Amino acid sequence: MNPAQTASTVANQEAWRPDLSPAPSRRRRRRSLLFMPGDDLRKIEKGAALGADAVVLDLEDGVATNRKQAARVVACEALRSVVFGSTERLVRLNAPETGLSGEDLNQTVEGRPDGYVLPKVESAATVQTLSRQLAEIEHQHGWQAGSIRLLAVVETARGIMQLQSIAESDPRLDALAFGAEDLAGDIGATRTREGWEVFYARGAVVIAAAANGLQAIDMIFTDLQDVDGLRAEAQRALQMGFAGKMAIHPRQVAIMNEVFTPSEEAAARAQALLHAFEEHQAAGTGVFAFEGRMVDMPVVRAARRLLERAGL
Ligand code: COA
Ligand code: MG
Repeated sequence: MNPAQTASTVANQEAWRPDLSPAPSRRRRRRSLLFMPGDDLRKIEKGAALGADAVVLDLEDGVATNRKQAARVVACEALRSVVFGSTERLVRLNAPETGLSGEDLNQTVEGRPDGYVLPKVESAATVQTLSRQLAEIEHQHGWQAGSIRLLAVVETARGIMQLQSIAESDPRLDALAFGAEDLAGDIGATRTREGWEVFYARGAVVIAAAANGLQAIDMIFTDLQDVDGLRAEAQRALQMGFAGKMAIHPRQVAIMNEVFTPSEEAAARAQALLHAFEEHQAAGTGVFAFEGRMVDMPVVRAARRLLERAGL
């Protein structure tokens, strides 16, 4: 068999594999997820107007223990009254083991957030339990089933070991986010600028997400002043396959949006490539040349992802 035949056969077989990822149009862009303490209305109001793809009203580690109840009240009120435009409205719960997450949910769900972020996820059961509670709440309120989404932060050694079961746990789950700071603490690593100490886990999160049709969201960058360092880390995350990054300060948002948004030329090229792909599929050809390079299913999938990041 000549190499061209082999490539064509492989490409044709791949074309028959079901595509597990949700249709791009159904999934939100998540290039930048800006966190802010849930008890800080000023930051929530500011964060709502920055063009972040999502804001995360935090009830967990960004809130002092004696402010947890205040944060629930402020976050719920903000969800009701602040104008967020097209920015996704997320709430980060405390982990179930703290005993706080039940009230976190009860007291914020009336604000009808677009989704919840679960910290320190270590098992499929955590995601499934919350998803069942949300299903019940949606039913009671007459809200569309599955409309409140979930994002799981994996940031402990046990979580990394359970990535596959977490990633396949529940259809409500949209994304896996990687928390480097907590992980470093958990495994006894020292955080460095290069991040080699968390590199295995960071890569594993991308793989688990991709294997299950989820988005992968990269770690925070803690140096609030170092915009060049942030840009470099975001570019690396993009190259690794992350869809976006968690932000902690307003000045980080525009950088992330820029890095994770493809150029107009790249988007136009991806559209042309997909158009050519469809024409070749209709003509019964699985593999073809586009602008002098071979195109088969992996290239097609990459083009679809690029268009998703472009919001097209
Ligand atoms: N979201 C929205 N607005 C924010 C913000 C955020 N995450 N971080 C800062 N701002 C606002 C400030 O309120 C300030 O606005 P103002 O002067 O109009 O009040 C402006 O941006 C500049 O802030 P700056 O003075 O540079 O930062 P700071 O010293 O006030 O705050 C942090 C520094 C780290 C405390 C703050 O950025 C923050 O709270 N980040 C999020 C922390 C968090 O949620 N952690 C948990 C998840 S990892
Ligand atoms: Mg954390």
